[in-house]
Amino acid sequence: MSLVDALEPLSCCPHIVVVIGKGGVGKTTVSILIAMELSRIGKTLLLSLDPAKHLARYLGLSGEDFKEVNNHLHVRQVSIEKEVRRLTSKYAELLQEILPSLAVLNLDNIVNAIKYTPGVEEEVLLSKISEALRSEYNYVVIDTPPTGVTLRTLALPKLYLTWLSKLIEIRERIVSLRYVIARTLGKSVDVRDKALLKLYDMREEFKLLDSVLCSDARASYVLVATPEPLPMYELKETYEFLKSNLGVKPRLLVLNKVLPDSIAFELGQQEMQKDFLKELGSFGISYAVIEHLRKPTENMSDIEALKTKIKVFKQ
Ligand SMILES: Nc1ncnc2c1ncn2[C@@H]1O[C@H](COP(=O)(O)OP(=O)(O)O)[C@@H](O)[C@H]1O
Ligand SMILES: [Mg+2]
Repeated sequence: MSLVDALEPLSCCPHIVVVIGKGGVGKTTVSILIAMELSRIGKTLLLSLDPAKHLARYLGLSGEDFKEVNNHLHVRQVSIEKEVRRLTSKYAELLQEILPSLAVLNLDNIVNAIKYTPGVEEEVLLSKISEALRSEYNYVVIDTPPTGVTLRTLALPKLYLTWLSKLIEIRERIVSLRYVIARTLGKSVDVRDKALLKLYDMREEFKLLDSVLCSDARASYVLVATPEPLPMYELKETYEFLKSNLGVKPRLLVLNKVLPDSIAFELGQQEMQKDFLKELGSFGISYAVIEHLRKPTENMSDIEALKTKIKVFKQ
């Protein structure tokens, strides 16, 4: 049985597979394994949002890049810094358009404030996921940054929807007041308000994102850990986060870099490894165990070799 067998059934319009885990556990490696397999059943995009850019090394890409590995598998490595610059100029243009009274000086200050605002990285990640949802692919595999940033990103649509409903309420009140005043003064007034229309668009976008990210049918979460205390701790935290904030259960848990029993014994790690394996099975979710290749995986032939080291337990 393969990793994708454990994920099925998968809708494909597109179906989003989000691979989450602590830095270094093998998110990128597992993302490639899953994307390669999915590309055999449908058009697949492997979208790497991981700043570590290990994907680029595996596939010989450089910087932010796009590559057609073959007809069915496309790979995109996103450069967060570049995207932050693009997002800030997009917002500057938008502000100029909907609030033309802003002086140029003010606008520069606002652009700088946006660039250094906490959360701008999460905003970029979310915009990339949003783009992927509207794409023509059947499957989009998302290789994520380390857990903290990923979870904050996944929580954003709900937070934005709360803010937006309040902002829309305030803006609607302003627009209707403006209308009443204009009527009283006998002036004609354009009831279309650019800012309000933009807020409505944003609400639609975040509703779509939220509904897909919280849907078992449209999104699958794959949590990766290695048999070590911290990665396992993060896996459990992520499980709880997904359950309580998005109301979803991960589809697959992966324990990567598992040592063969004899070596684990020599290193005194046999008991710990066994305990973690037992713990993984206790979630009642399908899980996979990937053996340590005994050397760092560096290229696609190492990935091929890794395929023979996977055991899947479907629950
Ligand atoms: N099963 C494995 N056996 C050997 N090396 C592995 C295995 N899985 C991952 N690695 C190596 O571990 C390092 C981290 O893997 P990577 O997929 O980049 O993790 P992440 O994306 O979570 O940071 C890389 O050097 C990779 O080659
Ligand atoms: Mg990575």
